[in-house]
Amino acid sequence: MIALPEVEQRILTLRQTLNRHSYLYYVLDKPEIDDTEYDRLYRELETLEQENPELITPDSPTQRVGDEPLKAFQSVEHPVRLYSLDNVFNMGELATWQDRLQRNLSPEQHGQLDYVAELKLDGLAVSLIYENGLLVRGATRGNGVMGEDITQNLRTIQSIPMRIPVTGDMHVPPRLEVRAEVIMPTQSFLKLNEQRQLAGEPEFANPRNAGAGAVRQLDSRITASRQLDAYFYAAHFLEPGEAKPPQTHWKTLDYLQKLGFKVNPGRQLCRSLEEVQRFIEDWETRRHDLPFATDGAVVKVNPLAMQDELGFTAKSPRWAAAFKYTPEVQETVVREVELSIGRTGIITPIALMDPVFISGSTVQRASLHNFDELEKKDVRPGDTVRVQKAAEIIPEVLGVVLEKRPSPAPDPVKRPEACPVCLSPVEQVAGEVAIRCSNPTGCGAQRKNRLEHWVSKQGMDIDGVGPSLIEQLVDRGLVDSPADFYRLSVEDFLTLERMAQKSAENAYQAIQASKNRPLANLINALGIRHIGKETAILLADAYGTMEALAQAGLEELSDLDGIGPRIAESIVTFFADLENQNLITALRERGVSLATTPQSKQVGDVPQTLAGKSIVMTGTLPTLSRTQAETLIRTHGGKVSGSVSKKTDYVLLGEEPGSKYSKAQQLGVKIISEDEFLALIQSPPV
Ligand code: IVH
Repeated sequence: MIALPEVEQRILTLRQTLNRHSYLYYVLDKPEIDDTEYDRLYRELETLEQENPELITPDSPTQRVGDEPLKAFQSVEHPVRLYSLDNVFNMGELATWQDRLQRNLSPEQHGQLDYVAELKLDGLAVSLIYENGLLVRGATRGNGVMGEDITQNLRTIQSIPMRIPVTGDMHVPPRLEVRAEVIMPTQSFLKLNEQRQLAGEPEFANPRNAGAGAVRQLDSRITASRQLDAYFYAAHFLEPGEAKPPQTHWKTLDYLQKLGFKVNPGRQLCRSLEEVQRFIEDWETRRHDLPFATDGAVVKVNPLAMQDELGFTAKSPRWAAAFKYTPEVQETVVREVELSIGRTGIITPIALMDPVFISGSTVQRASLHNFDELEKKDVRPGDTVRVQKAAEIIPEVLGVVLEKRPSPAPDPVKRPEACPVCLSPVEQVAGEVAIRCSNPTGCGAQRKNRLEHWVSKQGMDIDGVGPSLIEQLVDRGLVDSPADFYRLSVEDFLTLERMAQKSAENAYQAIQASKNRPLANLINALGIRHIGKETAILLADAYGTMEALAQAGLEELSDLDGIGPRIAESIVTFFADLENQNLITALRERGVSLATTPQSKQVGDVPQTLAGKSIVMTGTLPTLSRTQAETLIRTHGGKVSGSVSKKTDYVLLGEEPGSKYSKAQQLGVKIISEDEFLALIQSPPV
């Protein structure tokens, strides 16, 4: 056993090292160590903290993801109102904006007027408050005056520092509000939609919607899985202390960057409106190389004193304007409308077109979504179509250029009556637009997609078994259902084309390793209609084992937060199917874990003195932080609950308790102090 001060020192060093490497990786994009090394350090910290939960602090990198979903968001007031921006759509309107500015400024000021031009990120505005360097609150914009407290979710974003690293001669103000645009990078967005499509869930229209949905999740693990990023663009010195607030916006951005915040690389100090115009023109094409979507540029008056003088209209500052880029539209010719079959059998028409360069990349496929949409747009092979990228990312057919339709006119694309792959009849559920292949088990396309879904990252994460390997395994009759993966031997892999001993062993090992994936991955991998990773996490939490989930009834399922009647029905139907029941049995027999690993198991020898106990906290405890107390409860086998009911075993009472205290008194729930709590966790279970 190492002495406590040494452990404490090691924990401190690990935290600093990890925070520095996250900063290098997530903010500067200049990593100095590889992921494996980072993971090793992270795990060391995690283990030390699990053994010494009293040493956990809220700014530890392990505390980014909270594990208790919230019931609702608190409404909070912003210290400084958040305004929106007036849009301008061309250079003429921009010049008019400058005219109005100048009218509001004295002739002497005209000489000192300069601008900052920044790219406008298409995400959502958040306000973050740091007290003595520690992130204490993060909120959505809301109506500008009041927003929602989403601190727990914002902490999951790696580029948002939980503590401002103090560097060199910088003074961190005692109270600082910073503003950022939270965005979903293009890559994360495309990946998310791919997963949703595989899961049969509706795709997001653009990264902004996907990002907005992510930060408003009550379960912060879902936010964490969406891989968001944040770029900072404003600071308010609520209490400056010894820090000297910058006098210009340009210096504010520098200041933010020096403090360790990520600042948009697309920015420039401009001495005149002509320079601003050049910035806008220059970035019109360059912006497509950035890892995120931008829809325009923001122009701001640089001297803060001048901003103050110009002030605000009812909705927006007079000292800033948003220039919106016009989306690029190109014409090209549709060669064919391909029918693609998804994992759940949905048949999607896809336009295959002559390659055309739009908004930074070559486009040659565009989903037409469904047959209603296809008929409305009446896209036929040979037609010239106008194409753009929705939200700068997703290729979208706007419509047909009818004058260019060949004559005689090509035939319209017909709705399929049979699946183009297995020739089974198609079906359409009343009220749904989707047309599906009616043969989920026999259709080769569906089977292949299901197996691909099984091995995917969000599923059983079987690295090294990809589409081409699956195709061969299916063709050779080695794999039909996902359970067959767990019957394969190294020799089976060696019978496949281009398979060397090493790769065969790797594929085999990857399959074996997947037997212990978390329950949420397994539920997702099953490919139950309407259930993606996020719903799978909810279900895994609520049920803990596959058996329990399989036995859940309709009503019970619909009672869960986030599970509607459609999802509930889909789950019940899935488990009622004999074939699916056989799949579960086969998985169990072949050693695939069908339950969540309880936290307590990972902790090792912490006595489970609170096993089965449900504890509610209220008020501020004398010595323990909320996170520390929660960790102690969990590591000792207890459950932290947000509200008091008859099922609550203890209410842990601190200073200035809320209504939970009176509720506990009413219901006669046992109320304990921090001291009593600490004694309780030491004593053996009764
Ligand atoms: S400044 C009072 N700078 O655009 C000034 N906003 O349309 C208001 N946005 O709510 C914001 N990038 O969410 C500013 N570089 C940038 C921005 C930016 C994106 C967003 C922000 C704001 C919205 C207004």
